[in-house]
Amino acid sequence: MSTSISKLDQQKLDAVHKEFERLGLRGYWQNRGEAPPLEPYIWRWADIHPVLMQAADAVAIGDGREGTTFRRNIGASVPGQGLGSVSMGYQVVMPGEKAPVHHHTATALRFGVIGRGTYTTANEERMMLEPGALLVQPNWAWHGHANLTDEPTIWLDILNVGLVNFLRAQFREEWAEGDQPITKPDGFSVQRYQALRPPTPLDNPDPPAFSYGWDETIAALEAADDGGEDDPYDGVLLDYTNPVTGGPTCVSILAQIQMLRPGEETRAHRHTGSTRHHVVRGKGVTTVDKDPAIELAWSEKDLFYVPPWRWHQHRNESSTDPAILFSVNDYPLLKSLGMYREELG
Ligand SMILES: [Fe+2]
Ligand SMILES: [Fe+2]
Repeated sequence: MSTSISKLDQQKLDAVHKEFERLGLRGYWQNRGEAPPLEPYIWRWADIHPVLMQAADAVAIGDGREGTTFRRNIGASVPGQGLGSVSMGYQVVMPGEKAPVHHHTATALRFGVIGRGTYTTANEERMMLEPGALLVQPNWAWHGHANLTDEPTIWLDILNVGLVNFLRAQFREEWAEGDQPITKPDGFSVQRYQALRPPTPLDNPDPPAFSYGWDETIAALEAADDGGEDDPYDGVLLDYTNPVTGGPTCVSILAQIQMLRPGEETRAHRHTGSTRHHVVRGKGVTTVDKDPAIELAWSEKDLFYVPPWRWHQHRNESSTDPAILFSVNDYPLLKSLGMYREELG
């Protein structure tokens, strides 16, 4: 609704606004509409991989001094859009490189893209990266990583750092000196948090440091497929659950893996929450919006972003092979605040 304001009224209003500015006040009528909508985006591996390698050549991992960087994280953020509560980016670790140990309030998930045998430490346990493995390093878990192989390793780093920054709750500490000791056998957490486990308190909202191997993941997907599990909007869809509580992967992030069967096309829906997908296998198209539709044509190792409250559906372009998508989203945060909404097409 527009109102016409006389010159005299405008003078009065300007005087009020001037006083508001001086006193740290703001009138409801001064708010300028809603924030512009977030837009979908795709990062194609064919474009990204060369520049990741160039960055590895140009920037050394070190203690952050003398031109080195503490981590070689390269964020994938949509140009002109903020991080959102969940960020995703690439971590590139070259043969022989070791990143110093630290911990922080942001929770980190790592999803292996290329390279096998690089490890990250988490609370005195080594966790191995391999393509398709997901590692969880929760709030305040000590972690560092080392590539002792002779090949570059690239994984996706997923952090709730946008949320932590928004809440101004950034705390971090460096490990005093040297490496974190490894006191636990490899595979300790996976063994420790099975259905049969030592008494474990359920009141910790953070997940334990944990890893989900690719062999178990693909076996679970295939078993779900064989068992007839099917989500009309996402195909065969599995959550990476907190192994203690059965809840989401971590307090503010849900990681999921999904399989689109050969030739499958899902139905359209829209919901609150942003989703970032990584193509583990296969080739397909995700359509965002209806008229006009935006088509994100993806293939192996591409990333794409679907913004909140936009109609979307996925299609596997192959009639012979399944397509597999890894994704992360902020649904747990929205659900805990009573703000998760979905409309089915
Ligand atoms: Fe970190
Ligand atoms: Fe969706």
